[in-house]
Amino acid sequence: MKKMDVVLGLQWGDEGKGKIVDVLTPNYDVVARFQGGPNAGHSICFLDKSFVLHTVPSGIFRTDALNIIGNGVVIDPVILMEEIHAIRQMGVDVRSHLLVSKRAHLILPTHRLLDAASEKAKGQKKVGTTGKGIGPAYTDKVARTGLRVGDILRTDFLDRYHALFSGHLSALGLTQPVDDSEWLNAVGQLKQLQIVDNEVVVNQWLREGKTILAEGAQGSLLDVDFGSYPYVTSSNTLCAGACTGLGVAPAHVGNVYGIFKAYCTRVGSGPFPTELFDETGDLLRQIGHEYGATTGRPRRCGWLDLVALKYTVMMNAATHLIMMKSDVLDRFETIKVCVAYKTKSGATIDYFPFDADEEGIEPVYKEFKGWNTDITSCRSFEQLPVELKQYLLFIEEQTGVKVHIVSVGPNRDETIVR
Ligand code: GDP
Ligand code: IMO
Ligand code: MG
Repeated sequence: MKKMDVVLGLQWGDEGKGKIVDVLTPNYDVVARFQGGPNAGHSICFLDKSFVLHTVPSGIFRTDALNIIGNGVVIDPVILMEEIHAIRQMGVDVRSHLLVSKRAHLILPTHRLLDAASEKAKGQKKVGTTGKGIGPAYTDKVARTGLRVGDILRTDFLDRYHALFSGHLSALGLTQPVDDSEWLNAVGQLKQLQIVDNEVVVNQWLREGKTILAEGAQGSLLDVDFGSYPYVTSSNTLCAGACTGLGVAPAHVGNVYGIFKAYCTRVGSGPFPTELFDETGDLLRQIGHEYGATTGRPRRCGWLDLVALKYTVMMNAATHLIMMKSDVLDRFETIKVCVAYKTKSGATIDYFPFDADEEGIEPVYKEFKGWNTDITSCRSFEQLPVELKQYLLFIEEQTGVKVHIVSVGPNRDETIVR
């Protein structure tokens, strides 16, 4: 039986998962998304074009591979069908390359309204969600009231839908009708896709010796159990989520590719110990084009946090590290890395605390000399400046895991595999 490899983010999302999955796909028969939904925005750049995927796995542009949306994903049919339409415009025959799990839950139009209402009620303490209805959809899943993709094939689907929909309307206190015609139309189109029992299909593929790459969304620090709760998303973004989100047993997991940016970003609220509020933070945002791929919101920026990274490497048992956006640091005289936290009580700690948001953590930094060189044309590890190699070596020493890929630009070819 083959093992399934996993690609996931080790920070707060937007590490560059889309680019790396697209780069690695030629080595795989199948790419499988295992959690999250249209809160994700995975960018892929090739042929001078940039493409953002939300629900469809990032292997879709490599037409030798199959793509599957797993049971752990929540699907907004409108967003999925728009995405499929845009991919078709690129000449890809999506229907033959994409499978959708019967067990994936549906995001209803009212889930979005519930998301907005919940954020409004939280006021200052809002999570800063993407507003895509993610939390309410997973809430219905866990409450055992949700609707799944397989349900759209049932004869009584509309009855089931209306029961849930009107329940939401009364929870929202809405008396006016909500227009759901676009949504129902998209459900009709969704029926035309290949809807499958993903757990059966995926295990069969592994038995046949097919290679599968599982693609995570968000990042480990947004995990509902181990992220900076309550400022997290509503799914398990860690490697364990690849098992429950696809129906693959832990014994069948192979390599775990953990992706991180050479610095840190975060969108939405919540603790971010190394966040920079000065011109260095602005410069990172500007050079790194740090604006959300899904919402367009400016991303909060700061130095690399090794305390947090060591934690997520541990939680995922990452076997390979992948450092993204190294080129964004090309112009910095000095580069800082957080190696410990100082708490309000004056203690120095080297782990991510339970109450990070109240702790008032201060980062303890180690400084590195910047490389001050344009590295975007480097194509081998040997060509990289010595200062960058030292930076990488330090990360490897601290995490105990080798950096397998260094990304030096958004395009497919701007990638150094060691
Ligand atoms: P994802 O959600 O993890 O797939 O990441 P996003 O697509 O949301 O954000 C990553 C952004 O960085 C995208 O705009 C990518 O095109 C871009 N990107 C990826 N790798 C690199 C890199 O090595 N250098 C630079 N400059 N940009 C990159
Ligand atoms: P990708 O896959 C970055 C953040 C939101 C918010 C929190 C909860 O592109 O890396 P949600 O809408 O999930 O209920 O929002 O999680 N968030 C992301 N941040 N990248 C993402 O996805 C994200 N998906 C959700 O900003 O703080
Ligand atoms: Mg993203």
